[in-house]
Amino acid sequence: MTKMDTTNSSSAAGVPSPQTLPPLPYSENALEPIITAKTMSFHYGKHHKAYVDNLNKLIAATDYANLSLEKIITSTAGQAEQMAIFNNAAQSWNHTFYWKSLTPNGGGEPPAALKLKIEASFGSVDTCKKELASTAVSQFGSGWAWLVLDGSLLKVVKTGNANIPITMGLKPLLAIDVWEHAYYLDYQNRRADYVNAVLDRLINWEFALQNIGK
Ligand code: FE2
Repeated sequence: MTKMDTTNSSSAAGVPSPQTLPPLPYSENALEPIITAKTMSFHYGKHHKAYVDNLNKLIAATDYANLSLEKIITSTAGQAEQMAIFNNAAQSWNHTFYWKSLTPNGGGEPPAALKLKIEASFGSVDTCKKELASTAVSQFGSGWAWLVLDGSLLKVVKTGNANIPITMGLKPLLAIDVWEHAYYLDYQNRRADYVNAVLDRLINWEFALQNIGK
């Protein structure tokens, strides 16, 4: 077995670093009252951490241990025998992206450059938000709603379970987690209330604009 570095640092000896749980971009109570600290502590501290920990166990002593998270995802997508690695890698990526898709005092008007792109693709910001909300609410079971860039157009798509737009040639701009663990402690079965509150109060339009330029 390849010896695994037990720290989170790179090794000059070529020992692969494990995938790491990135720090939250804000404190666990920063999104209250829309998302409570209790939800954040479970969602980030238990669920997200478990995906990263499980991924590290699955890739230890395999060729995947030497790859970036994105490369692990694209290398295992659609391969039934690698589904566990794909699921944990994609969920690790999706959650890091979701935390950045939210921000305290978010929502409101998008920055002008993004607003122009939204209007060109959806007609209005309100229509874009309504499409994001209806897509998030209509995802059957666990999954994600995404604002993505498809060529030069913005689109809204949904993915089930761990699935991720980068494997479909789409550039993610924003993500909304609609797994029950994202909202059940705060909203129980009222997914629409969670989604609309996120869109009105937390969505990070600046992050979406940054992602267009990447
Ligand atoms: Fe989640």
